[in-house]
This record gives sequence, C-alpha cells and structure tokens, in this order.
Amino acid sequence: MQTDDMTDIATLQSELTKGIEAAETLDALEALRISALGKQGSVSGLLKTMGAMSPDERQVQGPIINGLRETVTAALAAKKAALETAVLNQRLATERHDMTLPAPETPRGTVHPVSQVMDELAEIFADMGFAVAEGPEIEDQWHNFTALNMPETHPARAMHDTFYMAAADGEEAKVLRTHTSPVQIRTMTSQEPPIRIIAPGRVYRSDSDATHTPMFHQIEGLVIDKGIHLGHLKWTLETFLKAFFERDDLTIRLRPSYFPFTEPSAEVDVSFSVENGKRVLGGTGGWMELLGSGMVHPKVISACGLDPDVYQGFAFGVGVDRLAMLKYGMDDLRAFFDGDLRWLKHYGFGALDVPTLSGGVGA
Ligand code: PHE
Repeated sequence: MQTDDMTDIATLQSELTKGIEAAETLDALEALRISALGKQGSVSGLLKTMGAMSPDERQVQGPIINGLRETVTAALAAKKAALETAVLNQRLATERHDMTLPAPETPRGTVHPVSQVMDELAEIFADMGFAVAEGPEIEDQWHNFTALNMPETHPARAMHDTFYMAAADGEEAKVLRTHTSPVQIRTMTSQEPPIRIIAPGRVYRSDSDATHTPMFHQIEGLVIDKGIHLGHLKWTLETFLKAFFERDDLTIRLRPSYFPFTEPSAEVDVSFSVENGKRVLGGTGGWMELLGSGMVHPKVISACGLDPDVYQGFAFGVGVDRLAMLKYGMDDLRAFFDGDLRWLKHYGFGALDVPTLSGGVGA
C-alpha cells in the first residue's frame, strides 16, 4: 500500500465533499455527481483499478475506495435533499395561489337516457319488491321461442324479424334475442316461486325506421306465485306508470290482444292529453298504446317445470327507448344510438344529478 495513493484518495474525498457542500443548485450537484460517479467519473475510475490489483493490495485498497464511494454518495444524497427543501421553501415563500379563482372546466360525460330510464325503472320496481334478472343476448331458440309456447311451426315466430346466428352442421342456430321474454323462462327454471323480477336489456330485430332500430331495449316484468290474477297485473302497471311519468291522473286501459305466451293477453293503453300543443301522458284526452302483457300461459309455466294448477302469474314487456321518448320528448329513435355528442349533451343526464324519483312509489 502506497501512502501516496492513500493521500490522493483522502485529497479526492475532501475535494469532492467540499464541492458537494458548496453546490448551489441541483444542476451543479448533478454535474458533480457525474464527475465523480458517472461512467468517466473520478471515483468510478478508482473502482475500476481494483480489478487489476493483487489480492493483498485489494484487501487494503478495497475498503478505502469503497468507503470513498459511500461517503461521496451519502454527501450527494444529503445535499440533494437539502437543495430540494430549499427550492420548495423558496416556492412556498414566493408563490401564491388564488383559491377564489374558478376551477378550469373539465369535460364531463352524461348518462344516456336509456341508462337513466333503466335506473328509474329499477328504482320504481325495487320499491314494489321486484329484483332485477338478466339473460344472454345470444339466446337459444328454446328459450326465445319454444318454451314461450312458440313451437317451430308457430306463425308467431314470423312476427319477429329474427337475426339468426350461423350454426355448425346439425346444430340449431342461436338467435339474437327478439325480446326479453326468454328471461322469464330462465328465471322460472332457476328460481323457486314466489318470483317477482324485472329484466331490462337489449333486444334485436331486423327492422329500421324512425321508430325502429335493429337493436333496442325492453324491460320484462314477471310475477309468479299462488293466486295471482289480472287485478295484480293492472295495479302493478298502473302504479309503475304513474310513478314513472310522475302523473297521478294517468290511467290505463287493458285491451284484449294476443301473445302466444300469455292467456288472456292484453295490450295496455295509457291516457294522454294535449298541453300547450304538446302530447303529455296523463289526463283524459285520448289513449296511446304502450305495452304488451297478460297472464302467463299455463303451457309456459309447465315448460319451466312448475304446476300451473298451483302457480299463476303475469308478465309484461315494454320498450325502454319508447318510455324514454315519451317521458323526455325525443322524436327519432335512431338518434339514441348515433353517439352524436350534441344529442347526448342535450338529452343526457348528469351523473351526479339527484334521481328524479327519489320520492319513490307512493310519495
Ligand atoms: N315479448 C313481447 C314483445 O316483445 C311483449 C310481452 C311480454 C307481451 C310479456 C306479453 C307479456 O312483443
């Protein structure tokens, strides 16, 4: 071990630590760090010499050189922290934020009217003890048709302009569900009565004009229990529609109709009136057809493995988009699905808005 080297190292160390101590800016400190510990740095250079030393020499020099590196590293870190604190203190002492200035606007999205209406419906029916059920949009024909009393040859299958999926040889084609009624079947085959569910969701039919789009939304309602009759259906629909349209003077009328899966079946009309030249629901000006309903057909109840002599029920299905149009005044259904930001801003709802139905049913 040469005393010279040791002196050199001690000198280098004291030069470096003095330099570090004197550094006035973070940039100057960084330059010092590179000059010492960077690839070509003075300390790095010393570390490299250790490779060529004899074992004896390395035993003596190693700790000294490593000690140098540690001391310099620690001095750099301490100085860096001190300089950063100084910079922060300087900013705190000089910068002032005016908390009374308005915050910059951040772009905010809106809740789509379909989502809003589905939330309102779930809220109304939850108050009446209904749970929300779901089913797949790609459905098999048994759930979409057969179990709903629409056997293969049934002319009612032609009532729906069905989208059929491609099928492998010998397999039955699946369909895009043409209504939410298959959720009736899925619920009855997986749950014990009493059943009280609504099933909102997308449905598909090959149809397109101002009031029809190939994809639209329905909400299904189903109640299965002992002793359920048409009176329960009428009360439920009237209560729901009054709450939804927020009009106590809204009345409904059941008109005989036909659906394969309900018997008897009824088309439900709601009363409307003309206020300031505009049609609004409620009042006594006329009737408007709104939804399909009926008592669940005994064949449907038995297809689901239940005894129709024990259990009865009612079901209804209604277009969610149509409900939205009637309540919020849009006149072209196709605009619902165009994604035009101006339309969404105009008809959309703020995510933080108070729900319009916070009063709930009977409020
Ligand atoms: N599924 C029927 C339709 O889409 C509506 C409906 C549902 C009718 C339940 C009666 C009972 O047209």
